[in-house]
Amino acid sequence: MPSHTIPPLADASALPTLSASAARNAHFWDRIARKYAADAIADTAGYEATLRRVQALLSVEQDVLEIGCGTGTTALRLAPFTRRLLATDFSAGMIAIAREKLAAQPTPQLSFSVADADAPGFGQGAYGVALAFNLLHLVTELDHALALGLQALRPGGLLISKTPCIAEMNPLVPYLALPLLRAIGKAPHVLCFTGEELQAAITRQGMEIVSVERHGTRGKDIRVFIVARKPA
Ligand SMILES: C[S@@+](CC[C@H](N)C(=O)[O-])C[C@H]1O[C@@H](n2cnc3c(N)ncnc32)[C@H](O)[C@@H]1O
Repeated sequence: MPSHTIPPLADASALPTLSASAARNAHFWDRIARKYAADAIADTAGYEATLRRVQALLSVEQDVLEIGCGTGTTALRLAPFTRRLLATDFSAGMIAIAREKLAAQPTPQLSFSVADADAPGFGQGAYGVALAFNLLHLVTELDHALALGLQALRPGGLLISKTPCIAEMNPLVPYLALPLLRAIGKAPHVLCFTGEELQAAITRQGMEIVSVERHGTRGKDIRVFIVARKPA
């Protein structure tokens, strides 16, 4: 594991408080946070392959931002390979559990904060890498959220995302099952796009696609892993 001098953690108190609509959307995730934390990872081999791939792209010289970090499982694994990792999520329930895990596994590079991926406030050009795992299909407006992520990156910085592409699922899922589940409060709002449409949205922001991969080891893999670079 890399060893280095760790500078003070980022000032998470500078992040803006949630808007009323973000707080409403976050309520779904607050409700399921404990269950989400208890659920097993569906494809452990695929998850470990993604972690290895991301670790290889990180360095202990970089400040890293994670957006939509959930209960912090991935942040805890990746933080030792960064200079500092600020892991954020708009669900206070998710962040509370992430902080419990951090208390049980102290990791000096890591801090958690509540923040909305749909609102500005991550700082201009502050990060070498922005991570978004299982998030981009959940934001309110994809181009807007990507633009905010891009703003947070320094020139030459990397966006690394792994995203379920709902439009690659059986159409009964996006057009029947998800709307029904959403109507009874059992599913969040989701955006429906293919991996190619996600790549196109990233390219529209002026980012260069570095790599497009799939790491799944079980059945059809709808989660596209994309690395993209902000122009230097
Ligand atoms: C499917 S979970 C993924 C969590 C974690 N990244 C992982 O891979 O396990 C989606 C997470 O995104 C968060 N989220 C959804 N919309 C968000 C937004 N607009 N801003 C910040 N977080 C958001 C949810 O609260 C939830 O914790």
